[in-house]
Amino acid sequence: MSGEFDGQVAVITGGAGGMGAEVAARLLAEGARVFCVDLAQPKVDGAVGVPCDISDPSAVCQAGEYVLEQAGRVDHLVNAAGLVSTTRPVEAISDEEWKRLLGVNLDGAFYWTRAVIPAMKEQGRGKIVNVSSRAGRTLGNFAGAHYAAAKAAILGLTRQVALEAAPHGVYVNAIAPGLVRTPMLSGSVADERVEEFRLATPLRRIGTPSDIADLVLFLLSPKSDFITGATVDINGGDLIL
Ligand SMILES: NC(=O)c1ccc[n+]([C@@H]2O[C@H](COP(=O)([O-])OP(=O)(O)OC[C@H]3O[C@@H](n4cnc5c(N)ncnc54)[C@H](O)[C@@H]3O)[C@@H](O)[C@H]2O)c1
Repeated sequence: MSGEFDGQVAVITGGAGGMGAEVAARLLAEGARVFCVDLAQPKVDGAVGVPCDISDPSAVCQAGEYVLEQAGRVDHLVNAAGLVSTTRPVEAISDEEWKRLLGVNLDGAFYWTRAVIPAMKEQGRGKIVNVSSRAGRTLGNFAGAHYAAAKAAILGLTRQVALEAAPHGVYVNAIAPGLVRTPMLSGSVADERVEEFRLATPLRRIGTPSDIADLVLFLLSPKSDFITGATVDINGGDLIL
């Protein structure tokens, strides 16, 4: 059976996480070869695990070379690795915590973009999806200023790289999810607060990794070939109000 992503190569940072694993599973099911970059082992059968701390530029360089040696090309990059913190107010954030949050949520996406974009340009085609957050579009419901700042910066990175890469057939878009049921959410927000938030959301539900994977696969597919530099909100209508 042929799949929509047959013979294509995808790199997913945070590929062992809630959203990353779902995107990995969908891409594998559609015929892609999938490299899951994470501190943790991939959970999806058939995905190649690439252990790497994405906040370390030399580790990303090495891991990028490894993927290119193994696969010879990279068609898709999904920057889904992330780290949240609810430290508030801003004066409670230490230098270390600020650097760690920016290192994972922003620098990691930059390092991976820089590592794979030359191959994409040479191929004349590539698709990058950066996972931002509602926190980067307006405000974090629960997260601190460091997380919001990193997720807002990702949107600038997305637009600028999209402009530079467009003539080479390389597309760069961002998604801005509201709350999504993943280990990140259960590890950072109490169930009662999530329930309050659900009731205040126009569609009266919390997102799922499957909602996110549907959008990411659309943005990686040729169906989105007139979309670049965009940020797509996916939040149950949270920003209507
Ligand atoms: N879950 C939500 O409600 C929500 C909402 C908006 C945006 N997001 C964003 O979505 C993305 C995916 O989050 P998720 O909910 O699947 O979280 P998750 O915690 O399930 O997955 C995140 C993954 O990133 C990996 N990771 C963390 N630090 C890393 C590092 N230094 N190097 C490599 N890998 C690292 C973790 O090991 C984990 O597997 C993140 O960027 C997150 O900020 C999440």
